[in-house]
Amino acid sequence: MAKSYIVGNWKMNQNRHELNEFFGHLEKEELNPGNFWIAPQFIHIQTCIEKTNKVPLKIGAQNCSDQTSGAFTGEISPSSLADIEAHFVILGHSERRALFNESNELINSKVKAVMGNKLVPILCVGETLEQRESNETMNVVLDQVTKGLQGVKLGAEDDIIIAYEPVWAIGTGKTASPEQAEEVHAGIREKLKELYPECGENISILYGGSVKPNNIDDLIKQPNINGGLVGGASLKAEDFMALCRAIN
Ligand code: PGA
Repeated sequence: MAKSYIVGNWKMNQNRHELNEFFGHLEKEELNPGNFWIAPQFIHIQTCIEKTNKVPLKIGAQNCSDQTSGAFTGEISPSSLADIEAHFVILGHSERRALFNESNELINSKVKAVMGNKLVPILCVGETLEQRESNETMNVVLDQVTKGLQGVKLGAEDDIIIAYEPVWAIGTGKTASPEQAEEVHAGIREKLKELYPECGENISILYGGSVKPNNIDDLIKQPNINGGLVGGASLKAEDFMALCRAIN
């Protein structure tokens, strides 16, 4: 069976004071262990990792370079992330694709670089509203999955996570209905089984896009939705804990 996760994507939010409060709350309320991950801004990764001796979370990044070292001013190396014991990297988020022109080819190169450094990539895919309205959802999403995984070999199902995030549902308060999301997740599952006959059945596929404590239960009831990649609701400790409790 695919494992269930809650992954918080803090984006460019949460200052030091706010993250101290967040972790303080989780410690006080005694979050039970589970597959609960947080991606803060790069500058806070080390601080958050230090806090995981008291709170059962894994910490990762929201992006990284596809290069390991060298003259790439301003970039962050996946090997440096591995060096400070980060656990995972979110790749190909729709904000990276749209605002920073990340192509499927670059994202594929990042997936390989991240796995080469023994970090877990979370490969994000999803269609825009325009693509959904012109019935291109499945084509776009499966193309992103196929190109993102081109030449990627997996040793086990836990080596990678896929996140389906319809662009029109991110930060808008509009969640895909559980049925709409499941239709795409089931299509991704078929593609994963085709690409990875040994483990495609058990690769976790997370849903993202306005996931909240009040809609998580219906989403995770779907057979191919294995948890959430959560933006807004992961910033508030109470909401994040409610999401974690829902999947435990
Ligand atoms: P949201 O963001 O939960 O605020 O919609 C999700 C994401 O971008 O990963």
